[in-house]
Amino acid sequence: MAETVLVVGASGLVGSAAVASLVAGGHRVRGLVRSPEVAEGLAKVGAVPVVGRLGGPGPWAAALDGATSVVDATQAHVPGRRFGVRAAERGAIQRRTMLDALLGEVRARAPPLRSFVALGGLEEYVPTGDAWLDESTPKAAVPRGYSRLSAQVRPRLADAARSDGLPLVTLRMGLIYGSSGWFPAFVDRIRRGRGIVVGPGTNFASLVAASDVGAAIRAAVEVAPVGEEFLVVDDRPVRQTEWLASLADAVGAERPHRSVPRWLASLVGGTVNVETFASSRRARNRAMKERLGVPLRFPTHEAGFRAALSSEPQVPAA
Ligand SMILES: NC(=O)c1ccc[n+]([C@@H]2O[C@H](COP(=O)([O-])OP(=O)(O)OC[C@H]3O[C@@H](n4cnc5c(N)ncnc54)[C@H](OP(=O)(O)O)[C@@H]3O)[C@@H](O)[C@H]2O)c1
Repeated sequence: MAETVLVVGASGLVGSAAVASLVAGGHRVRGLVRSPEVAEGLAKVGAVPVVGRLGGPGPWAAALDGATSVVDATQAHVPGRRFGVRAAERGAIQRRTMLDALLGEVRARAPPLRSFVALGGLEEYVPTGDAWLDESTPKAAVPRGYSRLSAQVRPRLADAARSDGLPLVTLRMGLIYGSSGWFPAFVDRIRRGRGIVVGPGTNFASLVAASDVGAAIRAAVEVAPVGEEFLVVDDRPVRQTEWLASLADAVGAERPHRSVPRWLASLVGGTVNVETFASSRRARNRAMKERLGVPLRFPTHEAGFRAALSSEPQVPAA
């Protein structure tokens, strides 16, 4: 059944993948973006653009009229290299403000939504080292990495689900690569031989292609049971040194071999980035595959990297 879906943060790495996948699936898609130029691009891919800024009530909220589903793909603006703890605290306040604005308008409308898809990362869970992580892994009490940004969002969403019946479906994703976001600049560093290994490089990363994240969001809108949470990662978590080597091979650059201690890498690359990059997250995708039926186009990072590095379109037709 075709849904009417509002994607908030539609210009972002995840939001644009969600829009493409939902449009390909035959849904009526509205995308909230902040700039008219980006809105034009959204219209070209078959979505209805809505220009607005999530900061409080505003004309943007009319985009919720008649919507059956909302995908919240917003992220606070994060500074690149100097992404420290203070910046993350400011980012967390921005995330909370955006979510409050969205929930305020959702609450004010009837009939209720069928689903509200919230997104987060694997740092929400306690670190598990080399052991596998899944949906039953306990949540971390102290936020680290990018979960510092979502620290105030998770309890608010839980509260809205409990008190207002928000039909919450949560996807927690691994490190997402694609043709925008952090990946192009990172590839550029590797290409110029400036890649480093943070710490010993033995930590696991769970990667996932942006187009596969789009497919998971579409499945969450179509079939996910309300109240549940799913990990969105590819089939094979890999150690930091392994995926860095694959990336270097893919662009014909020297494999990064210089190991930089975490404290020093934090000074250069920002504490929050280093916490995410160098922590070990070996995540399973069984629930996503069996219960959401998400077909992974890129089950491992090697093929996904090649596609992201080429001009090949990453979102399959319906
Ligand atoms: N990237 C990853 O590897 C990764 C991994 C795991 C989880 N996630 C999660 O995925 C979600 C999206 O992340 P992302 O990487 O796609 O972020 P992103 O590329 O930075 O996109 C963020 C989006 O939020 C929009 N936005 C920011 N402030 C806004 C405001 N006040 N009003 C309206 N829109 C606003 C941005 O609009 P502008 O374009 O106008 O700035 C952009 O569309 C987040 O919840 C994040 O935690 C991401």
